[in-house]
Amino acid sequence: MSWQLVNNDRREEQLLVNESLFALGNGFLGIRGNFEEGYVHSNKSVRGTYINAFHDITDITYGEKLYAFPETQQKLLNVIDSQTILISINGRRVAAGEEVQMERTLDMARGQSVRKLSWTDQEAGQTIVTFRRLVSFTMKELFAQQVEIETEREASVQISTVVNGDVSNFSDPDDPRVASGHAKRLTVEQTDAGDMLSVTCRTYESNLSVHCSAKSALSTAAERKVSTEAGRAKETYTFTSSGKTVLTRWSVYTDTYRHGEQLTNQAAQLLQACTSFEETAEAQEAYLQQFWSDSLLEIDGDPDLQQGIRFNLFHLLQSAGRDAVSNIPAKGLSGEGYEGHYFWDTEIYMFPFFLMTRPDTARQLLKYRFSLLEAAKIRAKEVGHTKGALFPWRTISGGECSAFFPAGTAQYHISADIAYSFIQYYLVTEEQAFLTDYLTELLTETARLWMDTGHMKDGQFRIDDVTGPDEYTCIVNNNFYTNAMAQYNLNWAAACWELLEEKDAEALRGRLQLEEGEAASWKKAAEHMYLPYDEKLRIHAQDDTFLQKKVWDLASTPKEKFPLLLNYHPLTLYRYQVCKQADTVLAHFLLEDTADEETMKRSYDYYEKVTTHDSSLSYCVFSMMAARHGDVEKAYRYFIETARLDIDNTHQNTKDGLHLANMGGTWLALVYGFAGMRIKASGLLFRPVLPKAWKSMSFRIRWRNALLEVRLDKDKVRYEALDGTLTFRHHEDTISLKEGEFKEIPLHEG
Ligand code: BGC
Repeated sequence: MSWQLVNNDRREEQLLVNESLFALGNGFLGIRGNFEEGYVHSNKSVRGTYINAFHDITDITYGEKLYAFPETQQKLLNVIDSQTILISINGRRVAAGEEVQMERTLDMARGQSVRKLSWTDQEAGQTIVTFRRLVSFTMKELFAQQVEIETEREASVQISTVVNGDVSNFSDPDDPRVASGHAKRLTVEQTDAGDMLSVTCRTYESNLSVHCSAKSALSTAAERKVSTEAGRAKETYTFTSSGKTVLTRWSVYTDTYRHGEQLTNQAAQLLQACTSFEETAEAQEAYLQQFWSDSLLEIDGDPDLQQGIRFNLFHLLQSAGRDAVSNIPAKGLSGEGYEGHYFWDTEIYMFPFFLMTRPDTARQLLKYRFSLLEAAKIRAKEVGHTKGALFPWRTISGGECSAFFPAGTAQYHISADIAYSFIQYYLVTEEQAFLTDYLTELLTETARLWMDTGHMKDGQFRIDDVTGPDEYTCIVNNNFYTNAMAQYNLNWAAACWELLEEKDAEALRGRLQLEEGEAASWKKAAEHMYLPYDEKLRIHAQDDTFLQKKVWDLASTPKEKFPLLLNYHPLTLYRYQVCKQADTVLAHFLLEDTADEETMKRSYDYYEKVTTHDSSLSYCVFSMMAARHGDVEKAYRYFIETARLDIDNTHQNTKDGLHLANMGGTWLALVYGFAGMRIKASGLLFRPVLPKAWKSMSFRIRWRNALLEVRLDKDKVRYEALDGTLTFRHHEDTISLKEGEFKEIPLHEG
């Protein structure tokens, strides 16, 4: 069962959650798991179809607006709805009301979802309707549906399908995490109903168009009527059924970003290639077979966790933009929470999975970020810097979309996080062209930002008034995470110029106007970087004042007051030692050579006590670092929180969309946590441990041109080179494997 998710609950709240859980996507197109026919007993639904990065621009309204606050923001749009299929049998609408039996399955091996309804009608007898749908991985524009209707006796049947351009985004003014206002942002430009149904819409401000053309085929002779009205194109088939009838439907989406002005023609061409649902489904399954083989991740001993792992990896695949104009929204393409924005979530939490299993996608994600470099340079100037690149906290097309600067623009660490992921890509692939074409420039501009933000005082390089990852502590001096990440950024920026071949260095020096001594100044700043340390506690301080504050009494805080951000004014939170998420502990994970073992361990113990994990980005970090410190059972407990967070709706907001960073965190907790993988300038390293509850755990990663399979059993670890040759370390031992070779090493109980 770990390949499937089954949920037949039809209570209103769970239906909304299921819309996210059963969402299908392919990185370009995402469709929530809505019912084709809508709901019978409930009005609440977020009926959603999204195209990654397809957005409009809306004004930000402030009560009080200060200098360089962003004036507009981008918002991912709910686009044309082509999910609707309405069926009537002998004049009665078929719908998944409670009196009807329903079975619903997400099949992660096939990349399809299936919904089967069965009920009894006096005249037609028992009728079974099976809806299948998929969003294709092999033709990114395609959403395919198939409906099978099986009546026991002869019946008069009507099927209507609709392409609807009269759509809006969902809004809920009571919840700051869901978009509010500006719900309707698309105008219908054209509606046609002939052999195909098609609708074209345009955004109000961003000047982007989206088009959907759909065609269908029925397995039996029928009368077909078409109509258009109010932004909708509709077709209706009427026929007499006896036995089984199959309707196959293909909807193709195109948009200005990917298809230019030719979006209507291109949709028609793509539709021509769609002839058989079975063939489309076979291609889908073959694609997924490859995916599951490349990113194999199995544990033996807990089917529920295995299901959670599969589910999380499946949604990562479904959500990652791979066209360099899009990225991974914080909620994937499964909902409208966070308005489709991209955050540091990608670089720190999701990117590693792609880097180590699908480097092509990883490269595209970086190319997307690189394409925002000019906008980041402009933003740095707006905010008052003389040079450098300041990446926006949340964005789609490059402009800062956060209206709350203390937990938005002030999170300068995002620039270092992006730099970090670029460095990781280089360390894994060693692509020299990447160094010349992307890495050096990105690191140079981010290093310049740190030089312009920080300052030397008493022999220390200090960075004031920034916010670290923990959003319950804002605008502080010398956030340890930020300073340590900036140090890494500065050191690597200088190193890039040494790694470049002279002719490339010369060309870049001119283009980037590298000044004499500039790289040396980065090295000096890095060398003198101030990393706050508390002598009494012998831990790194989260920032200059964190440890002076009063400790929040978490034990006496009522359960219903969590997450704290929904129940306390930010200033209250800022005045206490209380963390929303991992901050210093995350720095220790990413940069383990910045502190010694004992300091990291003490920091862990200290910060764990003041962390609420109100952000889903926290558990995986605490899991990985518990494993690092040898507390494997604690690592396991934190890991469990990540693996089924959405399936079990533990954060109670899965209805707004899935928690993609946490999903990436599941992979991190297994591979970086239990297997203890690290990527360093010195190469690839493992320090594996296995939780008691599991018999074994296996996974695959790519390292340069090699494919490595790692299997952890209770008493040993086995490394096998399935493809290519590679060298890595297991603790202190260096291991080299040629293709087909393996090495087994005893594993001691953690
Ligand atoms: C977290 C941020 C995160 C954002 C989007 C917030 O709740 O505190 O770290 O980037 O969610 O996932």
